[in-house]
Amino acid sequence: MSRSQPAIIVHGGAVSRHSYSLSAWRASVEDAARAGWAVLEKSGGTALDAVEAAIRSMESNPVCNAGIGSCLTSDGRVEMDAIIMNGSNLDVGAVACVNSVENPVTLARKVMEKTDHVLLVGEGANQFAAAEQTGIPTVSKETLITEQRKSELEKFRQFRKAVKADFNVQIDGGGHDTVGAVALDSSGNLAAGTSTGGITGKLPGRVGDVPIVGCGVYADNSIGAASTTGHGESIAKVTLARQALWFVEAGRSPDEAAKDALDGMLSRVRGRGGIIIISKDARIGFNCSTDDMAWAYCNAREGLKSGTNCHSSK
Ligand code: GLY
Repeated sequence: MSRSQPAIIVHGGAVSRHSYSLSAWRASVEDAARAGWAVLEKSGGTALDAVEAAIRSMESNPVCNAGIGSCLTSDGRVEMDAIIMNGSNLDVGAVACVNSVENPVTLARKVMEKTDHVLLVGEGANQFAAAEQTGIPTVSKETLITEQRKSELEKFRQFRKAVKADFNVQIDGGGHDTVGAVALDSSGNLAAGTSTGGITGKLPGRVGDVPIVGCGVYADNSIGAASTTGHGESIAKVTLARQALWFVEAGRSPDEAAKDALDGMLSRVRGRGGIIIISKDARIGFNCSTDDMAWAYCNAREGLKSGTNCHSSK
């Protein structure tokens, strides 16, 4: 069997203005990349395990809009979406509108591995989380809500009263800082995952791009793997993750593919966001069409690299 050069890249979301300090945001993605790399460094460490570990780290960090510290719905509740995809066989699992676990990515993985389904939503997904066979601890809804997100919802409400904004406009303190990870392991297997609390002030029951295959993620060992962030409705319209991988398949570098897919989304539906990609031959790429996107990646050649925008060269 041929060996691959393992690599992991993570994002902490693409935003116009982040509501936490840039250093805390950067630390959150560095911690996540380290958690994923620790898996890949071990003999037999898989891309799926690395992606799950990286995303769990960000879901458990209140700085990130996923798990603890998720954005709130218009009526002040948490409803989280997550997905994970295995590039070796195209298996995928996802959950939407869940509110009973700290780590929705692990629940998504259980959907993939323990059910015949791709996506569970709402009450059914929460019931599945509580079922004994998942082994996932459930948490109270209040555990997931932070003071920061409450104050962002308040700001959002004031802003919406004064200005008829659409969800594509970034509001002071609001954020689309979804989290995601993409990994390649030494066996040449790729995986990708994405997790989010969605958008501040979203209608109850709103599901964004994240748990939709080809939008929040795509992974195929014969091409590459991608995770996206940004305005969910726009991402869903252009199937952003799959679009980026079509560009990789057509011969563009991962950096070019990310940029071209984002440019296409901006010109076609006026949506902004970010993408991280690893190609099947271990090239890493990323780009964003917002002011900022926290990212970090790690491989044996370069070690850990990170940043909070896409304007500096890698
Ligand atoms: N991209 C995350 C969301 O819009 O829900």
